[in-house]
Amino acid sequence: MSSSTRQYHITTFGCQMNKADSERMAGILDDMGMVWTDDPYQADVVLYNTCTIRDNAEQKVYSYLGRQAKRKQEKPDLTLIVAGCVAQQEGESLLRRVPELDLIMGPQHANRLQDLLEQVMDGSQVVATEAIDIMEDITKPRRDSEVTAWVNVIYGCNERCTYCVVPGVRGIEQSRTPEAIRAEMEELGRQGFKEVTLLGQNIDAYGRDLPGSTADGRHQNTFTDLLYFVHDVPGIERIRFATSHPRYFTERLIRACAERPKVCEHFHIPFQSGDNDVLKAMARGYTHEKYRRIIDTVRRYMPDAAISADAIVGFPGETEEQFQHTLDLVNDIAFDQLNTAAYSPRPGTPAALWANQLSEDVKADRLQRLNHLVAQKAAERSLRYQGRIEEVLVEATNPKNPAQVMGRTRGNRLTFFPGNLQTMKGQFVQVRITEARPFSLTGEVLKVSPTSELSRSVVTA
Ligand code: SAH
Ligand code: SF4
Ligand code: F3S
Repeated sequence: MSSSTRQYHITTFGCQMNKADSERMAGILDDMGMVWTDDPYQADVVLYNTCTIRDNAEQKVYSYLGRQAKRKQEKPDLTLIVAGCVAQQEGESLLRRVPELDLIMGPQHANRLQDLLEQVMDGSQVVATEAIDIMEDITKPRRDSEVTAWVNVIYGCNERCTYCVVPGVRGIEQSRTPEAIRAEMEELGRQGFKEVTLLGQNIDAYGRDLPGSTADGRHQNTFTDLLYFVHDVPGIERIRFATSHPRYFTERLIRACAERPKVCEHFHIPFQSGDNDVLKAMARGYTHEKYRRIIDTVRRYMPDAAISADAIVGFPGETEEQFQHTLDLVNDIAFDQLNTAAYSPRPGTPAALWANQLSEDVKADRLQRLNHLVAQKAAERSLRYQGRIEEVLVEATNPKNPAQVMGRTRGNRLTFFPGNLQTMKGQFVQVRITEARPFSLTGEVLKVSPTSELSRSVVTA
């Protein structure tokens, strides 16, 4: 490496959307001739791709920035970048807080990193947070995995959940065309990737903004149509998607998932609360009865489907009784995994201004009680894997045990078993499960093959 080669580091916070953006931004920096370093305190270009979904996510980045700002005093050629959702939310005010920053760029600008950096090289401090039409990807992402890949299908969110910053920071929905999505997947298939996760904040909204809408308000570019359109891409053996909004999770989509063997039977459908009045205050647009019907339908078509979700406790005004309704829902549905959070008031969201905020103590207590139930239910759910044969796609070495490799079942359970990554990476392994923990499994190898056996028969409900 010549002494003039600049080294970069990206630290990523937040959701899969941010991870996918970081991979594309890393691809751009590679293209510009820079090289990755694992150490953010060695790098010449440091990029924080930030998250502002809850206050603690936002605060994390400020401590890192403080340290880098100090470093810049000794190393004036350090380029300091804040990207992602905090950048979008705070914009110029970040410059007042951390004047050492060179570039502040919202998520819609991720694909423009080269252009923005060139403006920085010309000596400006740049703030790129205006709403734009997202540029179709022209760069090759630097993907973290060689086996599984993210593929964006829709950016932004048009919902207005009263607690949520996402619409404000990610902007309105912008769907990529089915052709662009398929082309990216075909390229991934050629490169040897085996699994793709299609991404959107509200993935079922896919296509609403594309041409092809019909007079009755229906459109032919729905997410279900997209699944049919990309299902046969050669080489891609597994398809996942996230996140689903209950309002749009149709039986047609469920049927497509059951019919199409590459679609893994794992669904991430956040419910947020089990109480109808809280759901209404959140402006979620469905009832807990509707949510339960969706899960019933999923399980009617795919009895063994894994279900995960997100939930918030301590939303403004939530009574103990209303919280009990969330516990009831979790008890009845028995999720395979649940991301739980205490409500965090966020700038620019309606619920943050309401007078009926709960104390941190009440929120923490409810969070703890919910987490306890979640672990208990996940442990029960996990037991069904005991002794079973599961197909696992091998991704990496077990970081805690170099004699083991790890991968995921179709239901998304992390699974460990003895093996060597060199021979097993990207292979589909039939694994007999010998030990089931709440959120992960251990097993033994029965058979290794480069393609999925796709043994699941089509269920017709
Ligand atoms: N689009 C997805 C969720 C995206 S945000 C959906 O609609 O379901 C990821 C999760 O963060 C949400 O599901 C919610 O559970 C949580 N979340 C969002 N805003 C929050 C807030 N203000 N406080 C606590 N949790 C929040
Ligand atoms: Fe936020 Fe609601 Fe949009 Fe999800 S659907 S990203 S919770 S506004
Ligand atoms: Fe966070 Fe932005 Fe994702 S706020 S959860 S990184 S959309």
